[in-house]
Amino acid sequence: MNKVVEIPRAAETPPPTPTRRVPDPCAMVIFGASGDLTERKLVPALYYLFRQHMLPEGFSVVGCARTPYTHERFREKMQAALKKYLKVPAEDGSFLESFLNGLFYIADDFSDPKAYQVLSQLLEPLDAERGTAGRRLFYMATPPSFFPVIVAHLGSAGLAKPKIPGKSWTRLVVEKPFGRDRESARELNRVITSVFDEKQVYRIDHYLGKETVQNLLVLRFANGIFEPIWNRRYIDHVQIAVAEDLGIENRGAYYEEVGLTRDMIQNHVLSVLSLVAMEPPANFEATAVRDEKAKVMRAIRPFPLDRLHEYAVRGQYVEGWAGDQRLPAYRAEPKVSPQSTTETFAALKLNIDNWRWADVPFYLRSGKRLPKRVSEVTIQFRRAPHLLFRGTATEAIEPNLLAVRIQPDEGISLSFNAKIPDTTMQIRPVKMDFRYDEVFTASPPTAYETLLLDCMLGDPMLFTRDDFVDLAWELLDPVLNRWKEDGRKGLFFYEAGTWGPPEADAFIERDGRKWQIL
Ligand SMILES: NC(=O)c1ccc[n+]([C@@H]2O[C@H](COP(=O)([O-])OP(=O)(O)OC[C@H]3O[C@@H](n4cnc5c(N)ncnc54)[C@H](OP(=O)(O)O)[C@@H]3O)[C@@H](O)[C@H]2O)c1
Repeated sequence: MNKVVEIPRAAETPPPTPTRRVPDPCAMVIFGASGDLTERKLVPALYYLFRQHMLPEGFSVVGCARTPYTHERFREKMQAALKKYLKVPAEDGSFLESFLNGLFYIADDFSDPKAYQVLSQLLEPLDAERGTAGRRLFYMATPPSFFPVIVAHLGSAGLAKPKIPGKSWTRLVVEKPFGRDRESARELNRVITSVFDEKQVYRIDHYLGKETVQNLLVLRFANGIFEPIWNRRYIDHVQIAVAEDLGIENRGAYYEEVGLTRDMIQNHVLSVLSLVAMEPPANFEATAVRDEKAKVMRAIRPFPLDRLHEYAVRGQYVEGWAGDQRLPAYRAEPKVSPQSTTETFAALKLNIDNWRWADVPFYLRSGKRLPKRVSEVTIQFRRAPHLLFRGTATEAIEPNLLAVRIQPDEGISLSFNAKIPDTTMQIRPVKMDFRYDEVFTASPPTAYETLLLDCMLGDPMLFTRDDFVDLAWELLDPVLNRWKEDGRKGLFFYEAGTWGPPEADAFIERDGRKWQIL
């Protein structure tokens, strides 16, 4: 379900002091401007930034797609989207008008070279009239098959290079998925870097824009107490779970091509893993952080294909229930083959072969149609080494857990053992809970707000570098190929609305561990 964000009350005077640097005016060209991502995420995020005085007056959007809108019609559509997804208050009138006046539209086909001439002719006057001065952000919100086409045309039309070298800039934002395997990702990268320099390319992973994901770094590196125990001496294992209660939401054709592992694990889950596992970077700058993330990826042990079942489980949902609502099977969803072997659930075990993490497994779990939407990292510490309390079996004492909830109810909780009052020595786990929304009153920016602003400010830290993408595919390609060869063999079914196939429980229980309840 789409989350409707209520934006704060009317325009305060004087305007609130922005908490970050405000970028210079630029023109953001959205390829795919009549699509779902634009109306649901991009334009609401842009308006929110504008409304918070984080974007300057001259900021402009040029939408491109085939649907034959005029500028005016496009503005009406975007206004309706803002009403739907942001609940824009009535007193926002002049703000809204000013924002909408900066929206323009070109109706054309991406494969037509003429479209890029029209685009160039529209961008030129904006540079002077709205002060965008050659600063251009090209955003590819289109089906991935168009990424190379658009890039090549931007190159031929002379739009990829900065208009005024040294003064203006041109950047390219590439949506996920970045390829469907290592070979296609490399080919896409080859096409992109034949036209743009790597430093112009921003591969978006909206998970990294989430406040709590960034807070993982703060938790680890701005506190003295966690880092000394963040290693194999004290940590038994790590779990990363990204669960969704939704099914595939009319995206059957897309999902059949992609599946859970490409859609969630290759990008989001591995990005989170790299932040949990990386060494402290020398500073909080893009190169240092991205170098450390890549080093972790390089240290992940390849999956042993002869014993893959010990390291990977895949599942697909069949009919089930959410309360009294019947949920259809994946194979009964529109545009899904009745014999489909696409996975909607995956559980993986990874080992990171380095000094810090030797013998500490990382269990990853993600799926569609699970009981609830929740993303969480759980660090399970080793048990207390010595049994001190008579009458209490060591096994019965629960290990300490540190859980970082990424969404929803962002927060951190620490579970530790306490004595039950008025008993001889009975022990049970209790929780210390921190919730962001209880401590910080301002609601955190959405991931797209953070990332769009970073991109306009030229900060690539939260975007995925080419080496990370390559390493992620290098790790997962063999698994995906094996699953494809195996077809139905080794695909386990689970009822929609449950936590995945029973085989996924057996998979972790074989190691003497269990999935932490989310
Ligand atoms: N939607 C999300 O929440 C979401 C989240 C994460 C990532 N993404 C990624 O974002 C991208 C866009 O997703 P989406 O859901 O917005 O897709 P969508 O709703 O299918 O939109 C696709 C857009 O591309 C345009 N288009 C397609 N073929 C075209 C052509 N030949 N010439 C000109 N325009 C063309 C369509 O416009 P016309 O039909 O008007 O031509 C439409 O504006 C995808 O890469 C997706 O994986 C989406």
